[in-house]
Amino acid sequence: MDLKEKEEYIYKIKSLAKEKKAVIFAHYYTRPEIQECADFIGDSLALAQEATRVDADILVMCGVHFMGETMKILCPDKKVLIPDMNAGCSLADSCKAEDLAAFKAQHPDHMVVSYVNTTAEVKALTDVVVTSSNAKKIVDQLPKDAKIIFGPDHNLGSYINSVTGRDMLLWNGACHVHSRFSLEALLQLKAANQGVEVLAHPECKAPILAQSNVIGSTKALLQHTIQSSAKRFIIATESGILFEMQRACPDKEFIPVPPEVTEGVGCSCNECEYMRMNTLEKLYNCLFNETPEIAVKKETAEKAISSIERMLALS
Ligand code: 13P
Ligand code: SF4
Repeated sequence: MDLKEKEEYIYKIKSLAKEKKAVIFAHYYTRPEIQECADFIGDSLALAQEATRVDADILVMCGVHFMGETMKILCPDKKVLIPDMNAGCSLADSCKAEDLAAFKAQHPDHMVVSYVNTTAEVKALTDVVVTSSNAKKIVDQLPKDAKIIFGPDHNLGSYINSVTGRDMLLWNGACHVHSRFSLEALLQLKAANQGVEVLAHPECKAPILAQSNVIGSTKALLQHTIQSSAKRFIIATESGILFEMQRACPDKEFIPVPPEVTEGVGCSCNECEYMRMNTLEKLYNCLFNETPEIAVKKETAEKAISSIERMLALS
């Protein structure tokens, strides 16, 4: 698509959204042109919080499915659309509700803390949801003697154990994008760029986090680049965030960490293919046809909402 076509699409999408009283939300990992269409860009927590505040008939979630489900659970009377129903999440897929239910049954004295990257069914089995921006704060507020199952992200869980002194029982899930960053490449980039700051998302593996100056959610990393006096940053998270970072700090330089090369096959991609499923064409069609629409079963939503509301109250 050439620039003119892109601009026409963005204009048509914004006009249609206004006409239909729709608000467009985008996660930082989406394509730059999707972020340009958005009324609100945020991390998982900010997107959920903002959805409860806006005056709109339709919410369009340009992100992944669990983010749309969280919005629908919080705003059951609103129509929640997603440009591509196949925009899933490898991390959410790594924890099936039936498996968590069986694990809970084996540990009846444990409470369940779940990362927001989970299905509505998993949230329905959860005591409190967390995101990467509030996980430490929320775990710190739980009773000191509480026995906790934390899932599904093992890397985030280990990190939260290390900063809270807890010994949470960790689910063995991971994000396929964050768990494949190359430590070797990061060390080489650090050596070649003296004085650079390394910023990492807590879904990265521990050796990557150990090399980082700042560990935080997408929003926290973005805010750090704005506030820091440093001029160059190495970024260990999905590369979509670089668009917002560069827009906010045009005079600074952002260097993405490449993924590991596995089995002799070079994968130069640190993009989440699910986030990239949100395209201008699909966003326009979704607004025009008002489909695909996110649906959450009433009984699941009724069980899941308390774990999300608890998170919002403790954030
Ligand atoms: P944030 O909560 O930092 O936006 O992260 C969401 C996510 O999917 C990271 O992979
Ligand atoms: Fe899920 Fe990873 Fe994509 Fe985030 S980057 S949405 S955790 S697959």
